Amino acid sequence: MAEQSYTFRIQRNQVAGNGRLETRWQEYKVTMPPNATILNALEEIKGKQDGSVTYRQSCRSAICGSCGMKISGHTRLACKTHIGWVARNGVVELRPQGNQPVLKDLAVDIGPFFKRVHTIRPYLDEGPEADANVGKTAYEQVNQVSQCIMCGCCYSDCTMAEVSPTFIGPAALAKAFRFVSDPREGKKTDRLRQLSEPHMMWSCARCAMCVEACPKGVKPMEAIVKLRTRGMQKGFNDGAGQRHALAFHVDIQKGGDLNEFTLMMRTLGLGGTLKETGAALHLMKKGKIPSPFPHKAQGFEELKKVYDILERNPLDVETKAADIVPE
Ligand code: SF4
Ligand code: SF4
Ligand code: FES
Repeated sequence: MAEQSYTFRIQRNQVAGNGRLETRWQEYKVTMPPNATILNALEEIKGKQDGSVTYRQSCRSAICGSCGMKISGHTRLACKTHIGWVARNGVVELRPQGNQPVLKDLAVDIGPFFKRVHTIRPYLDEGPEADANVGKTAYEQVNQVSQCIMCGCCYSDCTMAEVSPTFIGPAALAKAFRFVSDPREGKKTDRLRQLSEPHMMWSCARCAMCVEACPKGVKPMEAIVKLRTRGMQKGFNDGAGQRHALAFHVDIQKGGDLNEFTLMMRTLGLGGTLKETGAALHLMKKGKIPSPFPHKAQGFEELKKVYDILERNPLDVETKAADIVPE
């Protein structure tokens, strides 16, 4: 491929004399073919233009998980991303991962990320629920989430981690799913109980950013949906997230539409609803007032058929997609 000229705008983050992190942008010109990787360009910049530019790398093969950074707006692996995919009018913008403390330039402190993963006990527990037989479906489920290389790209782009730093995050939840779905795990119920607590699986906003960001096809959001289903099947339903999901389910099954007048009450109870009065009044002022009269949504008959299929085949709800493999 013919070489082209690109401008790399790199966010430089340096600790100043007062101990604070100072941020500025610096531009570098690089001439390379469009199928060269972002990591190739960084090596060229660091090796030939400015040795002070700091970033992490190791394997250069999308295996070690160290080169995750924000590349033209989204978090990706620098060694797996071709310049031509992300250059906009010849410009590529590089920033450190989001939702993680920045150490220098493009390098972040990965300690807090791994601490989150450790809270879910990333190893098999011995216990009464262990089964030595591993069927093909279970193997496929475990195998998919085992592709995770702990690069942090999903956590960096997670919208909920941005607004709620106490949220455990997609990578830790995908790892938790890996153990909950492994037949050899001995304490599956304990794990689901822990995952049903606040700031765990029910705090996910299901925005799918983690699915988009993951360079290994782990699909953390799908793992979270399956964990929620299993948690509810075990009866861990006493939380705002679970009540909200159940209220949705009841309304949609009944009429295809939400009863928003009672939804908040059923989710948060009276105390929680009163706390949200300001937000409700604001919505009313903007004309977003739901109909107080019971009614059936358009296309309700079609929706009913979908519910019938799902109720006849609950396995589909749990395993959800192409990862159902015949035993
Ligand atoms: S789907 Fe959930 S875990 Fe994934 S990025 Fe969105 S909020 Fe985060
Ligand atoms: S789930 Fe994907 S994006 Fe998240 S840490 Fe694992 S490999 Fe990286
Ligand atoms: S350098 Fe190892 S994943 Fe990119």
